[in-house]
Amino acid sequence: MTGMDEQARLNAIWQRIVSDMKQVVRDFSITQRELHTAGDYLNRLGQSSMCRSLIDVALAMTSVDATGGSSRGTRQNLEGPYHRAHPHRADGVLCEGGAPAGMPSLLMTGRVRDVETGEPLPGARLDFWQADSNGTYDRAGNHLRGIVTTDADGRYVVHTVLPNDYSEHDNDPIGELFRAMGKHNTRAAHIHLKASIDGRVLLTTQIFMPTSDFLKTDYVEGAVSDDLIVALEVDGDGYRGQFDIVLDRRGASA
Ligand SMILES: [Fe+2]
Repeated sequence: MTGMDEQARLNAIWQRIVSDMKQVVRDFSITQRELHTAGDYLNRLGQSSMCRSLIDVALAMTSVDATGGSSRGTRQNLEGPYHRAHPHRADGVLCEGGAPAGMPSLLMTGRVRDVETGEPLPGARLDFWQADSNGTYDRAGNHLRGIVTTDADGRYVVHTVLPNDYSEHDNDPIGELFRAMGKHNTRAAHIHLKASIDGRVLLTTQIFMPTSDFLKTDYVEGAVSDDLIVALEVDGDGYRGQFDIVLDRRGASA
């Protein structure tokens, strides 16, 4: 896209946003005082560095669906704020320091295939990160984070724990907005996944747990879909899950 094209696109988007918001002001007869209350809220949102998160919560799933991504393969989903560079896990074990006590284990397996040919894809890089069974992310270390590579048959194995639902934004302006709207701020339990081949990211998604109580009401509207829910069965004190991944190698980087 050239500089002029970009400027024309930006102008068109800005004019449309202002035009649509003017209609909201008319429809609800919004007063100047209410506009200033909204401005004060946006100032608090910016001061807490939460603007990007609020845009994600409100609009990112719409963007994922509108821009398609690899619409022919496994459905794309939010990346969220917690991804970073992760270590490679040759043994597929995401837990650091042994299996955490009191948390149900999860053995997740599956096969990665090409959407075009159906052929298994060896050497695909699967980058996982997730909350633990208390709904907590390791934000400093690499516990429950790691990269596995598919074998010659396109298969992968991950040893981890069952993630739990988690609430976020309890003490920031996003939580303030949700409380004002009478909405909860809980995410359905999920494992994040970024899949790449030859250094190209082809899929960024979330794999949801059927054990969650929030599959129907995840506060990120549109995030959960049936095709992203892992098939799970009880296995001793833990669980065994099966989730196959389909990649579109012609797809744009997610
Ligand atoms: Fe998450």
